[in-house]
Amino acid sequence: MTGFEFGRNPDDLKGEVTRGALAVVVLPDLRKKHGLDAEARLEEACGLAQAIGLVVADAFALPIRVVRPATLFGEGQVEKIGVACNQSGADLVVVDGALSAIQQRNLEERLGRKVIDRTGLILEIFGERAATAEGRLQVELAHLDYQAGRLVRSWTHLERQRGGFGFLGGPGETQIEADRRLIRGRMARIRRELEQVRRTRGLHRERRQRAPWPVIALVGYTNAGKSTLFNRLTGATVMAEDLLFATLDPTMRAIRLPGVDKAILSDTVGFISDLPTQLVAAFRATLEEVTGADAIVHVRDVANPASAEQKREVEAILADLGVIDEDGISVPIIEAWNKIDLLSPDDRLMRDDLVAHDLPDRPSVPISAVTGEGVAALVERLGVLLTDGAQTLDLTIPAGEGQKLAWLHAHGDVLSERPGEDAQGLPASRIRVRLTPRELGRFYSL
Ligand code: GTP
Repeated sequence: MTGFEFGRNPDDLKGEVTRGALAVVVLPDLRKKHGLDAEARLEEACGLAQAIGLVVADAFALPIRVVRPATLFGEGQVEKIGVACNQSGADLVVVDGALSAIQQRNLEERLGRKVIDRTGLILEIFGERAATAEGRLQVELAHLDYQAGRLVRSWTHLERQRGGFGFLGGPGETQIEADRRLIRGRMARIRRELEQVRRTRGLHRERRQRAPWPVIALVGYTNAGKSTLFNRLTGATVMAEDLLFATLDPTMRAIRLPGVDKAILSDTVGFISDLPTQLVAAFRATLEEVTGADAIVHVRDVANPASAEQKREVEAILADLGVIDEDGISVPIIEAWNKIDLLSPDDRLMRDDLVAHDLPDRPSVPISAVTGEGVAALVERLGVLLTDGAQTLDLTIPAGEGQKLAWLHAHGDVLSERPGEDAQGLPASRIRVRLTPRELGRFYSL
């Protein structure tokens, strides 16, 4: 195994991780993993690749009986990947497993194409979706950590050539050490920035201050159909504010719901099984949005045989984030049972029956984000959820506090308004308004 370990020029490789790039997805089937079977995992891997806009040209699993330290895959298997790339015209290879730095480089060398592993792929997704300052920093930290690992031996040939010149730093310092030091320095800086972000977290709700409307977060396992539902829910109601949100964050849009003037719908990164441990913090930070949501729509792929397992994973993470407390729920959750168009008539009947008798442990609405079936009912339920517990209040707003009055008109359901006086006999507005408990909380904090 010599000859291709060292000294390839990354610029010579075909392929880049960009939207629209053709990719071959390969699952190394180690056969010792429990949980999802190879087919389901391969499907999930393709979904992940699609999530960053890659076009899957071919996908297959390769059984790994003996792990080859140099390339992970056996000789014939590497050849098979090469053939698949040539036949499909793919410039990028996604390996849905962990590759060591040297394995990645050797595979790139052998295939003449860029190769990314599961961690690299997930980092790309997080990088695209991280909406908060903390999320972006966590993702960058994870990325640098990953890169530092990738430096291993990649510069070995240079190291040899340079020997002990030592012009890059202390005596005998090599390029790899200099690079590592740069990365470590950057990581230390990010950690300090993260500390700062956490300290000022309270002040970091800029978006909420800019847009004081209820926020609905779409969460769900990867490939459950969140983005499809997001597009369906927002597609019909393009609003002027969208421009603002589209530039701030393409995963947030304003929607109109019955009884609710405006709500912000927020799409989140999909939940993924087998998350590499160094990515857990980054993943949680990308979900920070969810903890501040007024309602959560948990999109479930009920046509997937692993649906129940996926639900448990999603709920475990929500609990971990503090969205669900020990006694049940803190933020109201509705389950959207998606992809019912794929169910057999019998399965459909069974699920409809469950929902009709309210047997699920959460309010649930069967839908198909693709055909649109059930989406109107979901919208209806969301409207009720966000206005539930609304109470009618009689308030006296001093004339000098026009801002509060405007807020009530914008967010509450104003039933009547007449001029009057406040306790001091000064001019004021007497207003009768319906507010949800959350809106009331916000009103008092104005
Ligand atoms: P991530 O971005 O990976 O988290 O996925 P996601 O949850 O946003 O899923 P996405 O909307 O990208 O949908 C995944 C796949 O499921 C796509 O191929 C969709 O076309 C398909 N899909 C989504 N909803 C439905 C549905 O109601 N019925 C059917 N048949 N397919 C659906």
